[in-house]
This record gives sequence, C-alpha cells and structure tokens, in this order.
Amino acid sequence: MNSTKQPVQQNFTYDPFDPDVMADPLPYYRILRDEHPVYYIEKWDTYALSRFDDIWNVLGVNDGTFVASEGTLPAANVLAQRNDGAVPDPPLHPMPFHANFDSPIYENVRKCTSSQFRIRTVPKLADRIRTLANERLDELLPRGSFDLTQDYGGIVAASMVCDFVGLPVDLAPDVLATVNAGSLAQPGEGVEVGNARPGYLSYLTPIIERRRAEGHDGSVPIADSLIEYRLPDGSALNDMEAAVQMLGVFIGGTETVPKITATGLWQLLRHPDQLAAVRADLDANVPVAREEIIRYSAPAQWFARTVRRPYTIHGTTIHPGQRVITLLASAARDEREYDNPDDFVWNRPIDRLLSFGHGQHFCLGVHVARLEITIMIQEFLKRVPEYRIDEAAASRPPSSFQWGWNNIPVEV
Ligand code: HEM
Repeated sequence: MNSTKQPVQQNFTYDPFDPDVMADPLPYYRILRDEHPVYYIEKWDTYALSRFDDIWNVLGVNDGTFVASEGTLPAANVLAQRNDGAVPDPPLHPMPFHANFDSPIYENVRKCTSSQFRIRTVPKLADRIRTLANERLDELLPRGSFDLTQDYGGIVAASMVCDFVGLPVDLAPDVLATVNAGSLAQPGEGVEVGNARPGYLSYLTPIIERRRAEGHDGSVPIADSLIEYRLPDGSALNDMEAAVQMLGVFIGGTETVPKITATGLWQLLRHPDQLAAVRADLDANVPVAREEIIRYSAPAQWFARTVRRPYTIHGTTIHPGQRVITLLASAARDEREYDNPDDFVWNRPIDRLLSFGHGQHFCLGVHVARLEITIMIQEFLKRVPEYRIDEAAASRPPSSFQWGWNNIPVEV
C-alpha cells in the first residue's frame, strides 16, 4: 500500500491534476516537503504548501487573509482564471455553498447545519450507529465475501447522512452511489463537488420543499434552520439555495468514513501483532488506533484558499488573488511532525492532526466521523474472528481530491 514509484527529481514538476500525481501523490509530496515547501504552480497561479507546520499556521490565520471565495476545492477551470487582485465574496443570490463566503455569512449558515454534530450531542448517536453496523454485518457475514468499503462502511455512513438531512434510510444505497459517482476526478480537470450537481440536489431540494409545506418546526434541524435563515440584507434562501447549503453534510458525511474504516481494518490485518494488541481491549484501544488510521489513510488530498491580503512564507510573498493549496495528505506524512510517517503504528503519539483541517473550516463532522469509525471497527472485530483481504482486487482510483481505497474486497 506504500508508494514505490519515484518521480524524476531533475526538472521536478508538481500539478495536482497531473495523471501521475493523481495515481500516487506521495513521492511528489516528499520532494515538495524537502525541496520546495512553497511550490509555485504557474499554470494555476497557485502555491502548494506541503509541510505540516506551514499548513497548520496558514489554516490558523482566521482574519480574512485567506478566504474560500473560489471554493475550497476549485476545479482546474476555476484555477485557470488569473485574478487581478483580491476576489470579493460571491453575490448573495443565487447563493453558492456558504464556504465560499467570509465571516459572518459563512459561520451563520454553517451554524444552521451544525446542531446534530456538537461534541455533546454526538455521543447520543452511538446506539444508532451500532445498530446500523450490526444490521449490515447480519446481512454481509453470511455471504462470506463483500466489499468492506462500500457494502459495510458505505451503507452505514450513508444511512447516517439520511438521518441527518431528513431522508428515508432506504435511500442510503442511492445516496452512496450518487456521491461516489460525483467524486470521481478526471485528469487535468479535478472535481466540481461544490457546484450544484443535479444528482445531489434531486435528493436535497425536495427535503426543503417538503419542510416548507409541513411547517419547519425544527424537527428536521438542518432543513428547518436553513428555511428560517435570513441573509444580512434580510432575504431568505430559496429551495435550491437552501439545498446547496446541505451539500457539505451530504458529501462529507458519505464519502470519507467508509474508506478510512476499511483501510484501517486492512492495515491492522497487515500487522498481526498490532491487530492482536488492539483486539486485547476493543473499548480502550480502538479509539487510540482510530487516530493513527485517520492520519495514515484520510483520503482528502488538499483544500484551497484564495489570498485576500499579502502573506509571506519562507521568504515568498503571496499576493491578493493568488491561491494556496494546503496538501493535508502531505502533512500527514511529514517526518518533521511524525517519526517514520510511512509506518503504520496503531498507538503512535499524535499531538496534532491536520486530517480534519484546522481553523475556520475545520470539519463539521469530526465527532461523528470519529464515533462512526470507532464503532464500525469495534463491531467488525467483535464478530469476525478471522478475515482476509483480496489485495489484488482492491482499488484506489486516481484522484486530485479523494485518493482512497474505494473498494476493498474482504473474505470472512
Ligand atoms: C474521517 C472522516 C472525515 C474527514 C477526514 C473529514 C475531513 C474534512 C476536512 C479536512 C475538512 C476541511 C476542508 C477545508 O479546510 O476546506 C472538512 C470539512 C467538512 N466536513 Fe469533514 N471529514 C470527515 C467526515 C465528515 C462527516 C462524517 C461529516 C458530516 C456528517 C463531514 C462534514 C463536513 C463539512 C460539512 C465540512 C465543511 C465545513 C465548512 O467548510 O464549514 N465530514 N472535513
């Protein structure tokens, strides 16, 4: 599962949309960290930051120097436009995803979507997640073989998303398939997840329409809060605008947890001593191993910000209108932060983690994600004494966005 290929160091170039990078970015990240910590990609007028500390510091600047006015995940056609100075916030209508706005609109809309994800609320979801995990295992284990990413974690995570946004759980397989299809990245182009994809909105817009008709009394928290929300000019969100604000939960909640859960079970299996140590006390040890699993395998590669005020880093000044991409997946393998970062060590000390981001856009679903991963790994290990991964059949499609194991066939 580790990279073997070495990109040519002479005439080194890095482009997140280069097919070679999308197939295996890790060797590129090492060279970037060691030799080009502030790497300028002329074609996109964008700087790539690859070291843990630099990314931690940049994402920690929350004074409007870095904004996401071009989206946190701009596709190549957005980056291809050169900006002549600072980029203003988008117009209020039609309102794009709220992450594209600076404070206070960004925070106020985010708050509409956040009530189910608070650190005090999330533990109440444990029983629900455990039930869903066991229902899946009841169905899958008698089959003898299945896809650990999609059939197990995928359906559980998508079922939770259905609960969160107010969809019937029997739509989970469709939600999962739709999000998987929407996240496929094309070489040279990237992914346009932030855009209002008709596939996603065909689930989300009817929820808003239904809640308006039913009286939005707060019982479907995200939809109801978005219907009540008023922008600074007093205007409300229309149905489609409100639906677009739900995309973060719809996509973020569905795609990352399954890949990390399945990769974690695979990594433990590859290190039988570590698997035995974790099995010795699942309640105490899975939450510890989970952090290493997230560090080692979180699939999101980078997020972007557009610079609004000059910012100097390692002697390079980045000017308003230029962008930075923060290579979170490189930070996770930075030897300046972690000893032997390419080794999987279930109980390694992890003081800081960038896999959920940092600062203003820190992952909204962090507590749910941790709980889902923990419970799914615990329940699987409780019920499965032995398992085998068909490594040759596992697949990790090239991606500029989510480079993770989409399919991990398991025999139990
Ligand atoms: C282990 C699994 C997960 C990882 C590693 C992860 C990672 C991240 C990262 C790195 C960001 C920040 C993006 C940026 O800086 O621009 C983010 C944002 C976000 N995540 Fe997650 N995520 C996970 C699971 C989830 C889950 C389960 C949900 C929802 C239930 C979720 C919802 C969101 C949302 C809505 C945002 C956007 C926040 C904002 O811009 O206000 N994520 N996630």
